[in-house]
Amino acid sequence: MAELVSLEEAKKQHEYIGLARALVEGKGLKAFVYTLGCQQNEADSERILGTLSQMGYIPTENEEEASVLIVNTCAIREHAERRALSIIGRFKHYKAKNPDIIIGVCGCMSAQEHRREQLKHSYHYVDFTFGTGALHRLPEFVYNALMKGKRHFDTDAEKPPIAEGIPALRSSTYRAWVSIMYGCNNFCTYCIVPYVRGRERSRNMGDILNEVKDLAARGYKDITLLGQNVNSYGKDLEGKPTIADLLNEISKIEGDFTLHLMTSHPKDASEDMLVAMSRDERTRGHFHLPLQSGSNDVLKRMNRHYDIERYLSIIESLRSKNPDVVLTTDIIVGFPGESDEDFEKTLEIMKKVRFDIVYSFIYSPRKGTPAYSMEQLPEEIKHQRYDRFCQVQNQITLEKNQALVGKSVRVLVDGKSKGDENTYTSRTDGGKIVHFKSDIDYTGKFINVKITRAETFNLYGEI
Ligand code: SAH
Ligand code: SF4
Ligand code: F3S
Repeated sequence: MAELVSLEEAKKQHEYIGLARALVEGKGLKAFVYTLGCQQNEADSERILGTLSQMGYIPTENEEEASVLIVNTCAIREHAERRALSIIGRFKHYKAKNPDIIIGVCGCMSAQEHRREQLKHSYHYVDFTFGTGALHRLPEFVYNALMKGKRHFDTDAEKPPIAEGIPALRSSTYRAWVSIMYGCNNFCTYCIVPYVRGRERSRNMGDILNEVKDLAARGYKDITLLGQNVNSYGKDLEGKPTIADLLNEISKIEGDFTLHLMTSHPKDASEDMLVAMSRDERTRGHFHLPLQSGSNDVLKRMNRHYDIERYLSIIESLRSKNPDVVLTTDIIVGFPGESDEDFEKTLEIMKKVRFDIVYSFIYSPRKGTPAYSMEQLPEEIKHQRYDRFCQVQNQITLEKNQALVGKSVRVLVDGKSKGDENTYTSRTDGGKIVHFKSDIDYTGKFINVKITRAETFNLYGEI
């Protein structure tokens, strides 16, 4: 049974909110959150802003006017960490100008011991750090900083309790994230996530359903259920509800929204789930299923627990139920020991499956993971292979996009395109970007657009 934050702890944090509010409210003090990383971080940042608002801070998008600055970090690849450190670095001069400014660092990067130590010793102006499992304690961290208490560098529990009831200040009025579980148990050998987000914990189904109902009632059009491996949802809950059960319950909720799952793991993608997904119009349009590599040998060394045959059988089953499903995946190029043959196999499977969109990454060694100490490929080889991969996949993506020309697709409008007055940007169910001209602003609404022109990363159409 997933443990919830104790009543006592929740009460304590509530008291901190009150104490801080007495110091903050009415002074026009502002809070700024910089978010790196995946949707889980986006979701966490919305709760961070929600908490800071409860404490009396006014959210701002201008870091220069903020009294509280929080950097919500990512550690998935080296690049993400470098960016986080450079942003934290940039915040130094705010504190130099005004010592009352509070600077906190949270999220996946700051949950690693070596980074925590680095922040403590080399970034003296950082007041506190905390991992994703301690988000409910933000009031305490901020209040302590307000009172000029000791700097605090929190260490996360392996299985932190689930915090319900933290209000999210959602950044969109039509796209929303709903975490259905936290953490990861899979320990893919390249991945840092299990080390920084702890073990799997599922939220109670009732809490999730209430959140989805509320979003649907408020007119949200695009809802993403979040978890590192949503297919193992419920294993730790009483009665062991499955993701299929959850989808079946959600299908009873009325509302005109699309529902995404982020992310499914091929090893646990059950037939029940595929059936549940295909049954509901709102979930059948898009499926994201990370493959990572086309070589069974590499998959084994990645500790993924499935082979290509199993992966292809899932795709086949899904396409037999729903031939038009938009398929997307993640691929890592240049994993340690990946041979030319292994890489060719990845290209082969791209040509075979013909994904609509592939999120591809050059392997980045993560300290503390098993693959970190495997023999690494030279950077040059990794980059050469990555370029070739993009060439092959971009051609496929382009062809799939071209096949849409002349067709009408439903899109959710995101607002005006940059630089052009009457051009709007929108996205299809599967995440393809479509630009079109309009005199009317349909932001946040579904409309049908006829595709007139296709490029690799953009489609163009008319209403
Ligand atoms: N839980 C999800 C993905 C989380 S991370 C899953 O299991 O699929 C998102 C993607 O980042 C992964 O799918 C993987 O393709 C990529 N990734 C993770 N660690 C990486 C690393 N060390 N280097 C490069 N890419 C990585
Ligand atoms: Fe990382 Fe694997 Fe967990 Fe995904 S399933 S978060 S890739 S360890
Ligand atoms: Fe997400 Fe980055 Fe953490 S991808 S889970 S924020 S390491």
